[in-house]
Amino acid sequence: MTSTPPPLYSVSTLNSAASDLKHALTEATTPIAAAEKPLHTKHLNVENPVPVNVFNYTGAVFDDDEEYEFAEFLPSFPEITLPPLAPTPFTDRGLFASPDKATLYAEIAEQGGKAVHQTPALGVEIRGVKLQKLSKAALDDLALLVAERGIVVFRKQTDLTIEEQLAVGAHWGPLHLHATTGVPRREGLEHVHVVYADKGARPDPTAFAKVELFHSDVTYELQPPGPTLLRNLVTPDLGGDTLFSSGAAVFSSFSPHYQRYLESLSAVHSGHEQARGARGAGQHVRREPIETIHPVVRVCPSTGIKSVFVNAGFTRRIVGVPKAESDHVLRFLHEQFAVNHDFAWRVKWEKDDVAIWDNRTVNHSALFDFWPERRHAVRVTPSAEQPESVAAYEARTGTKAKDWLEQRYKSLGVAKPVLDSGVGKKERGFKD
Ligand SMILES: [Fe+2]
Repeated sequence: MTSTPPPLYSVSTLNSAASDLKHALTEATTPIAAAEKPLHTKHLNVENPVPVNVFNYTGAVFDDDEEYEFAEFLPSFPEITLPPLAPTPFTDRGLFASPDKATLYAEIAEQGGKAVHQTPALGVEIRGVKLQKLSKAALDDLALLVAERGIVVFRKQTDLTIEEQLAVGAHWGPLHLHATTGVPRREGLEHVHVVYADKGARPDPTAFAKVELFHSDVTYELQPPGPTLLRNLVTPDLGGDTLFSSGAAVFSSFSPHYQRYLESLSAVHSGHEQARGARGAGQHVRREPIETIHPVVRVCPSTGIKSVFVNAGFTRRIVGVPKAESDHVLRFLHEQFAVNHDFAWRVKWEKDDVAIWDNRTVNHSALFDFWPERRHAVRVTPSAEQPESVAAYEARTGTKAKDWLEQRYKSLGVAKPVLDSGVGKKERGFKD
């Protein structure tokens, strides 16, 4: 708990940004009678299926049917230009939670719901709770729970409106406007990022390796997102799961020597490839891409936990080391997110689920195994703090940043084991 009043990101913040955008839209597009046709008109319709590009959602709509239940949330690509993002004050709402998250758990109980942890490393599933009914104090607790557990899934948010989803996101941070991906056709929802694929987007195995699909969203931004909400509108009968993998567990798995080395590094995150991918798919780039340098290990302000903050989607190179070393380190780190199944939770979506993950501490990967079925989701993306290195965090707070596994062992009343693989060790290994 802290007594410093936080900046509040309200729906009014959102509305002023949205009306600016609407103004820009009016200037940039052929005037339309908004009351009669309040829809963005720039869509991507495909006659020839577009291969899924590793750097971008295609946004192409094959089943462009007005009868479709969620037609207003199909992707559109307004041809506007957004200014570069300026640094924005941010305070993690998780800092205003109580450590036991008492308000959140009390409200879950009041609603008759239940929260169940999923794996030792991450994940909580919540059933029987309406997200939009949680108080602001409970949302602060939820921000801390998401930071601690990496991902929280609220099942069956059937009557959650897009406005309510935006309001929850706006409580946690200023909402991000994406530079390239689709926004809903219904006007006024430009802060919503549309995830959409149907039979018009057949995955092309020549376009990506599976390990390259793990990413954290828009990490090239100066202030990449924190708790990010994805609402699933249409879920394939089979497939379309999402994998989430913990950067805190990845960091904890290394020797102290390698941890110190990683803590000393920073890396370039680039939006250029995503912009090129968008242009290649015929989309308009609304804000010029940038490159930003972030620490390779960042510390979450609300938990003090260290996590590896690189991802195959956007991290291009380690700063100040030979290319061979940079390639080697990044390839190794990317693989650790993908191969350590004990650091991961695979979310099998049900219709109307809302997943909230901490984009600062987990990487995620969609599984493109559902073609030709339709998958449609809408994301609300609050921006967070500029990533803070271990040295900067410890200098600012006067406290030592924490190792996730050390904390876990501490909660079990034992010390994290010292790694010892020297001469004379017995044969080791686990069996099933
Ligand atoms: Fe993503």
